[in-house]
Parts: sequence; structure tokens; C-alpha cells
Amino acid sequence: MIAEVDYPVQEAERTLPAVVTSAPRYSLPQRIRSGYHAFWYWLGEGLEWSRGLYRERPVEQLTHLSGSQQARIARLRRQFDVRFEQHCAALTTLKNYDYLDILDQAWTAWGQPRPVGGVVHDVGASNFWYARALHAFFLPSALTGVEVEGHRIYYNGYSRHDYAQGYVHKLPQTDFVIADYAQYAQPADTIVAWYPFVTPTPVLAWRMPLTFLAPQALFARIAMNLNPSGLFVMVNQGQEEADVAAGLCQTAGLKCERSCELRVTLRRRRIPPVVSWWRHP
Ligand SMILES: C[S@@+](CC[C@H](N)C(=O)[O-])C[C@H]1O[C@@H](n2cnc3c(N)ncnc32)[C@H](O)[C@@H]1O
Repeated sequence: MIAEVDYPVQEAERTLPAVVTSAPRYSLPQRIRSGYHAFWYWLGEGLEWSRGLYRERPVEQLTHLSGSQQARIARLRRQFDVRFEQHCAALTTLKNYDYLDILDQAWTAWGQPRPVGGVVHDVGASNFWYARALHAFFLPSALTGVEVEGHRIYYNGYSRHDYAQGYVHKLPQTDFVIADYAQYAQPADTIVAWYPFVTPTPVLAWRMPLTFLAPQALFARIAMNLNPSGLFVMVNQGQEEADVAAGLCQTAGLKCERSCELRVTLRRRRIPPVVSWWRHP
């Protein structure tokens, strides 16, 4: 028999730090790394290289799971009627259950019905490996993953775009767009951002040039695209990053409805994710 597991959740109520709006100053090593990443970014943009649609081989069955992981995944499968393993390789499958679990834990903690239907945007989708998790949770009428560095080329010669085409293949009304979301003027009922860049360190860790650290413009666009009764869902890495991002949301004119820090997730993390939910006031 499979035991249910408890997931402790901490409501996060903090005072928000002021958002620094002056021009950022970066150290010399930061500028050198940024220049290196800029070279590869512009090469990818210029080449628009593609090896064609990349399909992962479905793992069919996940192995090497702990008892609590098995229990939680079994519950997610029942609750959302999903079988990610029939579409994705082992790691992508586990990561999709993990993202679905994070959303489910947050809404369970808030005691709210989950928001379903409507047009959903995902901001900074990478190769959109988690399109299936978003689809299962939000049951959108349309789902679009927007990624500024969609032409990044992996070691196997496929690009992010090639992978994304595989991940959205046969997912109804789902697509992947290569664009800077700050310039993407399209209305949405729900906008999701997993780990948006709000400080320089993650930008460089993701091998992006620091010119892409323009969070004021990004959050202003999110607020502009969000329909009057729409909701913005943000996941940040830890409370410190969440506080910076919260300041940016407030500057963009959004109001925080709920926020929670998740201490136990399907995949172990050094820093717990903080999920927050925002609206127009
Ligand atoms: C920390 S990563 C998170 C990726 C993905 N959301 C995930 O959870 O795996 C942030 C992503 O946002 C993308 N990004 C940054 N600025 C963006 C912008 N203005 N428009 C679209 N994508 C952006 C980056 O290229 C990167 O893929």
C-alpha cells in the first residue's frame, strides 16, 4: 500500500525591499563572462540552426524512486490524469511531476480552487520541457512558452527550438515562441514565470549575457499583457530572490494575493522554491 506524504508549507509574509532602478554596475569578471555568453547568443540567433524536431524516447516506467516520491507521483497521476513517462525520458518525466507538484502544493496550501482554462503564457520557457505539467495543471485553451534564447544549440546538435517542438508535439493548442517577452504584446489570462532573472548571478549561471537582465521591462510587460481579472504565477529560488521579484511586481502595479515557501519537493533542492500569485489591484 502507498502512504500519503505530508508536505510542510510555510506562508511567506515579508516586507518587500526597494527595487534598485539605477544603471547596474558589474564587475570585470562579470562583464567578461557576459561578453562570452553574448557571442554565443548572437551566433545562435544568426544561425537559427535546426536539426529538426527532437523526440525523447519515453521511459515508460520510472525506477529508483523513494517511497515518498512514488506515493506523491501516484497521487498526481490520479488527480491530474497524467502519465508523463509515456511521453518523456526519465529525467524530464520526474521534472514534470516535480513542477506539477509545486503548483499543486501551492494551491492546496492556499485552499483555493486551481485556475483553469483561458490563455496561458509561460515566460522564459527554456526548451519548454515542462509544457505537459503546465497543460495538466491549467487545462488552458491555449498555452504558449516564450523564450528569448530559443536558438541555443546543445552538444548533440539540436537546438532548444528542436526540443521544444518535440515537447509540444500533440499537446493541444500549445506552442513555443522565440521572443523577448518584454516585447511580446499579447493578452493572457494566466502568466507563469519559473525562476525569472531578477539578479545577475543566475543570468550568468544560465550562460546568458547581462543585457538580458532587464526585469523592470519584463515585469511591466507581464502586467500589461495580463487581462484585468488574470493572474500571474511566479516561482522564485528562495525567499531572498522572491523578495526582489516581489518588489518588481509591485513596481509594475501588481498586487500579491498569496505566497508560500515549499520545504519539501519531489526533487531535492538546496534552496526551497517560493510560489506567489499576483493580480491587478
Ligand atoms: C532561470 S531560467 C528558467 C527556465 C525555465 N523557466 C525553467 O524553469 O527551467 C530563465 C529563462 O528565461 C529566459 N529569459 C530571460 N529573459 C527573457 C525574456 N526577456 N524573454 C523571454 N525569455 C527570457 C532565459 O533565456 C532562460 O531560459
